This record gives sequence, C-alpha cells and structure tokens, in this order.
Amino acid sequence: MTEMKRVYIETYGCQMNVADTDLIIGLLGRSGYTATDSPGEADVILVNTCAIRDNAEQRVYGRVGELKRYKRPGDVMGIVGCMAQRLGRTLLDRVPHVDFVAGPDGYRMLSELILRAGDGERSAEVGFKSWEHYEDVPPVPSNKVAAFVTVQRGCNYRCTFCVVPMTRGPERSRKLADVVREVERVAASGTTEVTLLGQTVNSYHDGVRDFADLLRAVGEVDGIRRVRFTSPHPNDFSHRVIEAMAQVPEVCEHVHLPMQSGSSRVLKRMLRRYTRESYLECVDRLRAAVPDLAITTDIIVGFPGETEDDFLATDSLVREVQFDNAFTFKYSVRDGTPAVKIREHVPDELAGERLERLIGTVREVARRKNANLVGSTHEVLVEKEARRGGLLQSRTRANKIVLIEGSAETIGSYRLVRLTGTTGSTFTGVPVAGRELAVLVE
Ligand code: 5AD
Repeated sequence: MTEMKRVYIETYGCQMNVADTDLIIGLLGRSGYTATDSPGEADVILVNTCAIRDNAEQRVYGRVGELKRYKRPGDVMGIVGCMAQRLGRTLLDRVPHVDFVAGPDGYRMLSELILRAGDGERSAEVGFKSWEHYEDVPPVPSNKVAAFVTVQRGCNYRCTFCVVPMTRGPERSRKLADVVREVERVAASGTTEVTLLGQTVNSYHDGVRDFADLLRAVGEVDGIRRVRFTSPHPNDFSHRVIEAMAQVPEVCEHVHLPMQSGSSRVLKRMLRRYTRESYLECVDRLRAAVPDLAITTDIIVGFPGETEDDFLATDSLVREVQFDNAFTFKYSVRDGTPAVKIREHVPDELAGERLERLIGTVREVARRKNANLVGSTHEVLVEKEARRGGLLQSRTRANKIVLIEGSAETIGSYRLVRLTGTTGSTFTGVPVAGRELAVLVE
C-alpha cells in the first residue's frame, strides 16, 4: 500500500477563502491526500491567497518566503486563490520555488498540477469557468460549530476600486436544492449555524429561486438554529429578502452591509450604484423589519479625489447609522481596476490620518452601543476556547463576542448569558441560572 500524501494549506483573506480551503481539502482527499497542520510534515504546501489590497499580497510574499524552508526535495508548493488568479505566470517568475498557481475556478486541476510539478513542470491554471460550483465535491469543514456554505461565486458588480471581478470571474449561483443538500449534510454532522457566502450574496438567483427563497429553505433544515449571510449589497435588499429575514426565526439579527463611503460623490466614482440617502434608506428598512438588528460595515478612505468634505460625510454617516462595528481600509490601487485611471491621488499620509480619525469615530460609536447592552441577556453559541484566561468564546445572534467561563465540553452548545462588561468591542458574560431563564421565558 502506498503511503498517503500529506497536504498543508494556509489561508488568507475572506470567509470564501476559508470555505474554498475546505473544498480543496475535499478535492485532494479524493485523490488520496490527507490534511496536516504542520508544514514540516507536508508533501504539498499550498497558500490560499487574497488580492483585495496590496498589503494582503505583500504578506503572502513574506509567508511564501518563510515556507520555503519546509520544502524538501520532492515536495511541491503551490499558490492558489485570488492572488494566483490575478498574477498567473508572473507569480511563477517572481517566486522561483513555487511550482504552480491555480485560481478559484481551477481547483479541480490541483492533483494534476501536483503530479506535473513532480515531473518538473511549472503550471498556471487561471481560466474562468462560469459553471464551476464544485457541486460534486463534499468540502471538509474546518469548523464543526459554525459552517460556511458558498451559495454564489464571482461578481457582476463593477465597483471601480475592486479586484474581485478580475479574480473570481462572473457571478453564478448554485441551485437552491444543492445548497440545501449541503446544509443538510453539515446539520447531520451536528453543526447548527451556517453562514451563506457570496460576493453580493443577496443577489443570489438560481434562475427560479431568489435569496428570500434560499433563506426560507435553509432556515427549515432540521437542526439549523442560526443562519447568517455575508456580504450583501444594499441594492439587492428587495422587499422579499427583508421580509424573509424578518419572518425566518433562524436568520440572525445581524447584517454586514458594506458602505464604502458616506459621500454620494465618492460613491458615484466608486460605481457603488447607491447614494448616501439610499444607503440610509436601506438601513431604515432593515431596522424597521428586524428590531435590534446589529449592523456592521466596510469603509474605504483615501479613494481618488476624496476631499476633506467627502471624508467628513463618511465620518458623519458612521454616527448617523450607529454601526456596531466597521472594518476600515486605506484605498489600495489595484492594477486593471477602473479607479486606476482617476488621477486625483490622495497622499498616503493624508489617507492614513483620515483612517485614524475614522477608527476613532467607529470605536466611540461602538463603545457607546455596546456599553448600553451590558446587563442584558442573550443566547450565545459557544464556539471555542478563548485565546486568554481559560475562558470560552461565544457569540450572540447579533454577532457580539462574549467571553464566558465553562468547560470545553460545552463548545457547540447554546447558553443564556447576561452581559457583565465590555471592552468596547467584546463582552464578558455569566450564564443565567435556570430560575432566571424561566422568568425570561414567561
Ligand atoms: N482598497 C482598499 N480597500 C478595498 N476593499 C476592496 N477593494 C479595496 C481596495 N482597492 C475593501 C472594501 C470591501 C472589503 C472586502 O475590502 O471595503 O468591502
């Protein structure tokens, strides 16, 4: 009997990359590979990469350099994911110890690429396959408590700053029945929470069924107690989708709603297809339908031509919406995207200074909101051991992280906890006794 080959894979970037890594393990599993979490033991080393900003790519170069020392004679190293797709053969030229690159639609070829590398051939698999959903490949979930399920790949929006249409190709949705089958499979393994993934997930449409249908169908799967999704686009929140969110009890009270800028002028240049006013209107419709909805967002500062007034509009929209949290980024030029042609570069120092100010506002708004939650009681799902203090990390439906005491056996279970304190972003909590639980239910 031949010995099983071992594959080590390191993942950078978004949740979809995490899901793709699970898929790659599933794919390579069929060809006789097992996963290892130690690069030194691996016959195949893969890095699943992100191309969204330049610093994401720089990190990958650094890490790929470090991983070189684990590559023994006969071992194979590949770069996969968005950076591989974006750079193709150029990446092979730049990093001589890398044997192959494969983009997000090329993972079926991985075992072939590995074999070819064994023969000394360096390949780039970077064609788009607009039909590719890896439907026949059962992913191997790295997280047993909460699963990511990709429902849509690619993107048909053309936001001028964004590299994703170039790295993940055209938008395509899986058939509703196929998504439901995968959710049933993860539920059968004991997982109770799923996050549906897509670049503009609420534009999901399989030709017959839309995202509202999908939320309802996934919510009905036996054993699924929480449904999340990321990331939606404001323009795809139809009445039907918002109604489904409000009516399906499993859909959690949290939306990550990328805003990018609070200035209509900048939004127009970004080709986001909404204005400050219509973004706010979307937030109002969501909040009217789902009481206590937590809203988080993504914001870019320093987009070409952003003036001080534009920036102040972004800053004030953070206060107006009262975001629960925000990921804030300095604009990063991506080759080949339309924004490259806008010649009104914002100096790096100025963009950095705006980023600092914005982070200050985001923290202040979040801290006040979170402080108001201290004393309230929430259902949490216990996820894992916390990094510090022997505590467990758990999460509310509104996506707030709560550190609680408890034994590792409770991982995967639900608890009712009272929030006892906050750092401004995360919480501490204590389990609520049975008697109090009864009072709460009354
Ligand atoms: N520069 C900076 N941030 C970007 N994002 C996407 N493209 C860029 C870019 N070129 C941010 C957006 C998006 C998040 C995933 O990354 O805010 O929502």
